[in-house]
Amino acid sequence: MDSPKASAACPSNWAHNTARRLLARPLPQRWAHTCGVARRAEQVARILMPEDLDTLVSAAWLHDIGYAPGVADTGLHSLDGARYLLRVGVSRQVCGLVAHHSGAAAVAEQVGLADELAEFEDVPGHLKDALWYSDMMTGPDGRPTTLDTRLAEIRRRRGPDDPVVRALAVNVNERRAAVRRVHRLLRRTQPTKHSSGTRVGGMSA
Ligand SMILES: [Fe+2]
Repeated sequence: MDSPKASAACPSNWAHNTARRLLARPLPQRWAHTCGVARRAEQVARILMPEDLDTLVSAAWLHDIGYAPGVADTGLHSLDGARYLLRVGVSRQVCGLVAHHSGAAAVAEQVGLADELAEFEDVPGHLKDALWYSDMMTGPDGRPTTLDTRLAEIRRRRGPDDPVVRALAVNVNERRAAVRRVHRLLRRTQPTKHSSGTRVGGMSA
């Protein structure tokens, strides 16, 4: 297996290839969604510092690999994906982003895996928000969507007893807040007639 360390010069290329290898054939719809999330991540990357762009896009490619046969283990895909990535040498930062993406902590509570998920650091900030935004604003077919449409689709597809749906009672506000923060930053970094836009990632501004 190709190692991310061997591809350290361009980790998002490694992430893309790894996600394709794990998802494209066995889970084509999950792969379509992943491609859409990576596209979204590239679109919102302007809110980040330049050194964080590749981390975001890598995490976007890898965020759902925990569904792949051979990676899935506990049934909590964020944990399984992060553990796989740690085993193959991916940075702790990307592992943490994958582990905690899109309200995973509340799902972990639902399935009794909170302690296991806590093996990975959950770092609040623009990187985390940008990944959640990219996932929440992309439908299962990879097309852009709205947060409300996405939440309705999750409820419909999974049903009321699914842990992800039960966890929405806890994490829906957190999901909305992340999306709102990214929208606000995107508006502030929108290039205008008079300016080429301001990068505010990692900002105090
Ligand atoms: Fe996703």
